[in-house]
Amino acid sequence: MSEEPAPYGAAAAGPPGAAAPTSPVPASPSPRVVRTTTLRRWKEEGRRWAMLTAYDAMTASLFDETGVPVLLVGDSAATTVLGHASTIPVTVEDMLVLTRAVTRATSRALVVADLPFGSYQQGPAQAVATGVRMLKEGGAAAVKLEGGAAVAPSVSALVDAGVPVMGHVGFTPQSEHALGGYRVQGRGEGAERLLADARALQDAGAFAVVLEMVPAPLAERVTRALEVPVVGIGAGAGTDAQVLVWTDMAGLGGGRTPRFVKQYADLRGELARAARAYVEDVEAGSFPGAEHSFEE
Ligand code: KIV
Repeated sequence: MSEEPAPYGAAAAGPPGAAAPTSPVPASPSPRVVRTTTLRRWKEEGRRWAMLTAYDAMTASLFDETGVPVLLVGDSAATTVLGHASTIPVTVEDMLVLTRAVTRATSRALVVADLPFGSYQQGPAQAVATGVRMLKEGGAAAVKLEGGAAVAPSVSALVDAGVPVMGHVGFTPQSEHALGGYRVQGRGEGAERLLADARALQDAGAFAVVLEMVPAPLAERVTRALEVPVVGIGAGAGTDAQVLVWTDMAGLGGGRTPRFVKQYADLRGELARAARAYVEDVEAGSFPGAEHSFEE
């Protein structure tokens, strides 16, 4: 089993991933506000949708205006924004700051906030306490947590408390040490367990399930088996939706890109070019010009 480079923030120039699937023509008009019920309807209509991470007001408002229907304040912020080596150190307080920035800047997209490692693993009571904060103090419309059948009691407690939940199975970065690194999940005997985990999340009331780094045929099987939308990342083209970390998608990170990332821009190159030009102008005395200066 080969180990993939760490996802989330390690984007660099490289071969683009598989082409995005083409969506069938939508049967219902685009809603003014995207809700969990919208996503369920889209599944019934066979309409595919995209989710992107967002961690700040500027990009959140841009993605919202562009029509990205679901924004995830992912705990990938630990690496992309906060400079940690993994998602493990990010705290609830960190996530609340970022979630507030995103929800203040968003009017249409459904905003989902990740519950960070250590903020729900103690069980349903802790999960509800953290989930309530993400909605009440962060303004999120839903939360996401990692794990399968083991976290089903927490999912069901959150849903009973009025907190919509997106599940996340397959490769779950918060468990990277338990899983032995960044590895594809659900191969061989793991396939049935993964399907059972996804079903357990749906039965507990999750409104959608993320499948990360799972063989494409298995992801397609899970997608057909579930009534709720399945969101893939490194799970092939057969899921109802796709998610990418925005800095990976836009080519802002450095380092090796995971195979499943398609880079749609080279923001890192463009930003470096702009920064270099600015430094050169200042050093040469050509910025600021008269047009940037005030008269007496
Ligand atoms: O934290 C994150 O960004 C995620 C996804 C990419 C699914 O969990």
